Amino acid sequence: MKQFSPTFLLLLLFTYCSVAWAQAPAAAPAPPAVAPAPPAVVPAPPALVPAPPAAAPAPPGPTNVTAILEKASQFTTFIRLLQDTKVENQITTQLNDSNQGLTVFAPTDSAFSNLKGGTLNSFTAEQKVQLIQFHVLPTFYSPSQFQTASNPLGTQAGGSEGSFGMNVTTSGNQVNITTGVTNATVANTVYTDGQLAVYQVDHVLLPLNFFVTPAPAPAPSKHKKPARSPSGSDTSTPANTSGTTCLSKKLFQATACVMIVLAAFH
Ligand SMILES: *[C@@H]1O[C@H](CO)[C@@H](O)[C@H](O)[C@H]1NC(C)=O
Ligand SMILES: *[C@@H]1O[C@H](CO)[C@@H](O)[C@H](O)[C@H]1NC(C)=O
Ligand SMILES: *[C@@H]1O[C@H](CO)[C@@H](O)[C@H](O)[C@H]1NC(C)=O
Ligand SMILES: *[C@@H]1O[C@H](CO)[C@@H](O)[C@H](O)[C@H]1NC(C)=O
Ligand SMILES: *[C@@H]1O[C@H](CO)[C@@H](O)[C@H](O)[C@H]1NC(C)=O
Ligand SMILES: *[C@@H]1O[C@H](CO)[C@@H](O)[C@H](O)[C@H]1NC(C)=O
Repeated sequence: MKQFSPTFLLLLLFTYCSVAWAQAPAAAPAPPAVAPAPPAVVPAPPALVPAPPAAAPAPPGPTNVTAILEKASQFTTFIRLLQDTKVENQITTQLNDSNQGLTVFAPTDSAFSNLKGGTLNSFTAEQKVQLIQFHVLPTFYSPSQFQTASNPLGTQAGGSEGSFGMNVTTSGNQVNITTGVTNATVANTVYTDGQLAVYQVDHVLLPLNFFVTPAPAPAPSKHKKPARSPSGSDTSTPANTSGTTCLSKKLFQATACVMIVLAAFH
């Protein structure tokens, strides 16, 4: 090496680096970005369908379910539970805000007294709310609309889980309900106005959910995590590693250049 002058070495270095860096863009005309940002790849979902405007012609205040049930005079336990759980207020609000209407299955007092002793008391406060919400469908059903309803019907207790459903079967005018725990028959139409339907049922509808032990939560998956997950990216799109490879190559070449420089001036 002694016979090479530093000038020659620098020339050599310059040549090598020029070639190295010239090759890189030719081999991969990748943008300088380290990895394509996934959000750019995934098209933004279209804006959600805007909620339908509350264009209902305002009647004189929302229908009062409690008043309707009081008039029928055999729903005192159900009324008390509607009030204790505040589901009464939810019904009132929903009738005012939604144009889908509501359907309420009201068990009679004797239906409550036919429950196995201690059933109600065995429920937590949260379960009592769910129990009453389970008796409310977020859609108006006329008796004939049950014939074409597709099972299972979601209830107000469902939330986003959809696990508080019930099935209806019909035959002529008869409507039966099964929850998987309770079989009940719709005995009577207490009230209907095209927005709200209140039906008398002969059993308290117990949600199957209360009696099945929830499936064990799936074990945390041992999937390999992507080496570098761009923050905020929750898509499962695998990272495109080509960019990374290009960068590594460049890094390697740059390191080689630096090493030659060091060798030249040592
Ligand atoms: C990854 O990026 C390279 C260039 O940057 C491109 O040619 C290739 O199609 C990409 N692959 C995928 C799976 O997106
Ligand atoms: C509904 O009616 C009940 C009984 O008639 C009454 O106590 C209650 O205050 C009424 N609720 C509303 C929101 O008017
Ligand atoms: C009913 O809805 C209207 C507008 O949607 C609102 O102004 C009014 O306060 C609501 N009434 C009740 C009792 O919730
Ligand atoms: C409803 O239930 C009653 C009593 O269990 C039964 O006799 C009837 O056949 C059922 N009807 C339908 C349509 O399922
Ligand atoms: C309700 O109906 C659905 C669909 O037909 C069925 O999968 C489900 O097992 C039924 N549940 C009960 C409790 O009958
Ligand atoms: C409900 O009805 C189904 C079939 O009609 C029957 O198999 C089931 O045992 C009944 N359940 C109860 C709690 O009566």
